[in-house]
Amino acid sequence: MSTPAIVGEGITVRFRPMVDRKPTLRRSLGRMQHRETKELVALDNVDLSIKKGEAFGIVGRNGAGKSTLLKVVAKTLRPDEGTINVFGKTSTLLQLGVGFNPHLSGRRNVYLGGLAAGLRKKEIDERFDDIIEYAELWDAVDRPVRTYSSGMFSRLAFSVGMAMEPNILLLDEVLAVGDEAFREKSMKAMRDLLDRAGTIVFVSHALPNVAEFCDRAMWLADGKVRSIGPSADVVDAYKTAVHRGKNK
Ligand SMILES: Nc1ncnc2c1ncn2[C@@H]1O[C@H](COP(=O)(O)OP(=O)(O)O)[C@@H](O)[C@H]1O
Ligand SMILES: [Mg+2]
Repeated sequence: MSTPAIVGEGITVRFRPMVDRKPTLRRSLGRMQHRETKELVALDNVDLSIKKGEAFGIVGRNGAGKSTLLKVVAKTLRPDEGTINVFGKTSTLLQLGVGFNPHLSGRRNVYLGGLAAGLRKKEIDERFDDIIEYAELWDAVDRPVRTYSSGMFSRLAFSVGMAMEPNILLLDEVLAVGDEAFREKSMKAMRDLLDRAGTIVFVSHALPNVAEFCDRAMWLADGKVRSIGPSADVVDAYKTAVHRGKNK
């Protein structure tokens, strides 16, 4: 029997859209009351079970709930209902290195990111040169991160994430930017992680990458699991629906 890495049952997440406008008489009487009570179900009773050594893809149109599901797995968001169990040390790479402070230098961000992930300063000192070299940042390391190109940004995010030596890597659209050479390098690092019985959850719009790289995939539509299975089958089904215009 294979060992589980991530097991989620009945995960439901609801958002209540914030009403931050000043109430006016008209809104108070009508629309706003309505808006306030209307909640959005971002994830609706989602089950998932991902094994050690598995690469698992998540596809679906914008707003389908992919990022929300990743946040639940990363435990940065608590579901309203359901349970999530994660067995292993997780490193989360969100879209374009969310979590970096854009006003600080790459160097400072490596330290902040490392400390936030539970490394000690000494451990970061030891890994620092490798992180920067792997990210191919060279002398940009002391420039504020806001001056980085999106490629530099994602290279740094990936490099910091891998330096945490995670067992479980959660990627949200991280490899969409960056050049081909770095993508290959990242893929190799990810394959090495899988070979060491690590687990990867991969949210991406790059459907060929999902089909090729992942063992299995899930298609989320409006917060519900539309299908789950071998990645090539799920990607095909999703692509067919997109082409039919049903689920753009
Ligand atoms: N913090 C939030 N507050 C309110 N609504 C949110 C929040 N985060 C996500 N949503 C909504 O939940 C739904 C799912 O979002 P998300 O998980 O980001 O989708 P995806 O990553 O698949 O594009 C969307 O309708 C989105 O607008
Ligand atoms: Mg998203």
